[in-house]
Amino acid sequence: MAIEKVAVAGCGLMGSGIAQVCAQAGFPTVVREVNEALLEKGLKGIEKNLDRQVEKGTLDAAGRAAAMGRLKGTTRIEDLAGADLVIEAIVEQLAAKREFWAGLEPLCPKQTIFASNTSSLSITEMAAGTGRPQRFVGLHFFNPVPVMKLVEVIRTITTDAAVADEVYAFAGRLGKVPVRTTDRTGFIVNRLLVPYLLDAVRALEEGVASIEDIDNSMKLGCGHPMGPLTLLDFVGIETTYYIANIMFEEFREQRFAPPPLLKRMVMAGWHGRKTGRGFYDYTDPKNPRPVKLG
Ligand code: 3HC
Repeated sequence: MAIEKVAVAGCGLMGSGIAQVCAQAGFPTVVREVNEALLEKGLKGIEKNLDRQVEKGTLDAAGRAAAMGRLKGTTRIEDLAGADLVIEAIVEQLAAKREFWAGLEPLCPKQTIFASNTSSLSITEMAAGTGRPQRFVGLHFFNPVPVMKLVEVIRTITTDAAVADEVYAFAGRLGKVPVRTTDRTGFIVNRLLVPYLLDAVRALEEGVASIEDIDNSMKLGCGHPMGPLTLLDFVGIETTYYIANIMFEEFREQRFAPPPLLKRMVMAGWHGRKTGRGFYDYTDPKNPRPVKLG
């Protein structure tokens, strides 16, 4: 059975991006949020992204209209039940995700594939709470979803090989480059990225260099699109702190242990770009200024 209809749970930063790329790739897509205000915010973000593509000439007006025509927003969980694949991108909390899957399970036919976009929680644990662990995978997109080409396809010890293959092929049909990985916290990217980001914070704490010089070093010395401290602000300080703690719990290795400065920034509410302050001050978003840390 090929995947033809898609449902996305969550229309936040990741969910809206996933719904957008599914609709643009030609899939009828239902996207669900828990209330009208959040749904409207997410759908507005998608429209803005498509408008930007039209302005740049990478999408024409007919393509924009067709993508929006394939996209249906809802607040009803029942509306997700007609899809061949349900991609969950709700809040990154295991209890909330398990509750979501438990509510969806009885509504869907037994062949429906379930996929979670979690970056750090166990796919196996989520799958075990449903009646279909063999049809449950991880499908991890990267921020910003419309831009980043990679998708991690995560197979657990209970996933059918054919289901993983089908989801892998689906990611390719989205125009993404899929990679296969197993259910170990952090998968491929965060396993390598998180220790690197934490090391950048340690380097700053130890006085190796300034915020700007650390960022410029990795941008200009290694060709990264963003320096690590800018990337931390982009991903979110509290998000990275949360992921690092889960990875540390899983592996008990020092390289995943969040440094004290990161914790202090979370406690101070300096969560990065989304709160206007992290390693940089975004009062003027086009001209971020490095902050003074004590
Ligand atoms: N949504 C949609 N499109 C966006 C976008 C967004 N939020 N931000 C930028 N874009 C598009 C722009 O429209 C532009 O498109 P074009 O090439 O068709 O003109 C293109 O991306 C480049 O944007 P800009 O010229 O404005 O800016 P940059 O060249 O600085 O690129 C960036 C911005 C793509 C964000 C780049 O800096 C980058 O790749 N940064 C690294 C991002 C990264 O590492 N992401 C992964 C984070 S880890 C993660 O998500 C995993 C999780 O589990 C933690």
